[in-house]
Amino acid sequence: MKFLLLGILSFLLPLAFIKLCYAIGTISVIRRTKGALFVSTSKAKIEAILDELEGQANFHLVDLGCGDGRFLRAVYRRLGVAGEGYEINPWAYFLARLKNILTGMPIKIYRKNFFEADLSKYDVIFFYLFPDLLLDLAPKLRKEAKPGAIFISANFPLPGFKPYKVLKVEDPIYFYRV
Ligand SMILES: C[S@@+](CC[C@H](N)C(=O)[O-])C[C@H]1O[C@@H](n2cnc3c(N)ncnc32)[C@H](O)[C@@H]1O
Repeated sequence: MKFLLLGILSFLLPLAFIKLCYAIGTISVIRRTKGALFVSTSKAKIEAILDELEGQANFHLVDLGCGDGRFLRAVYRRLGVAGEGYEINPWAYFLARLKNILTGMPIKIYRKNFFEADLSKYDVIFFYLFPDLLLDLAPKLRKEAKPGAIFISANFPLPGFKPYKVLKVEDPIYFYRV
């Protein structure tokens, strides 16, 4: 009985700790993220985006609100492109840095609000954000993105932009070119 209890506790305590870190990380930034929670893009969606980017070589990539960095690592694994990510949720940032260290990938993660970033150097700008935040991001992209840059928006359309392609993988994925 004692061993069973210890077994259950050794499983439940780390799980509770992870949930607590997630909750604290989310609550600490909820106003700035306008509800954009740390939710990861699925493997199927990432693979579909990578299929689209396959032909591109040596592009400068950024994930705005990169979560645990899984999109950036998938791009590096398949296309050899080491992108950059911005993340303000401390728990997501910690996981992204930890996973990069464990996998030895040369991906840069900044613990910074992407509204303070200069987006003019990027050829491909990926984001999975909620509509309220996209309303603020659209004018920044219009002002700063370089001609020819591609925006990829998971799940929600970018207000004021017309996509050249929409993929349907579970949810829509919108592709835009400046
Ligand atoms: C839905 S998650 C997407 C995570 C990752 N891009 C993916 O596709 O797996 C959105 C992330 O954006 C982050 N975020 C929202 N607003 C941000 C901001 N202004 N600056 C940096 N990160 C932000 C949130 O903390 C959250 O982790």
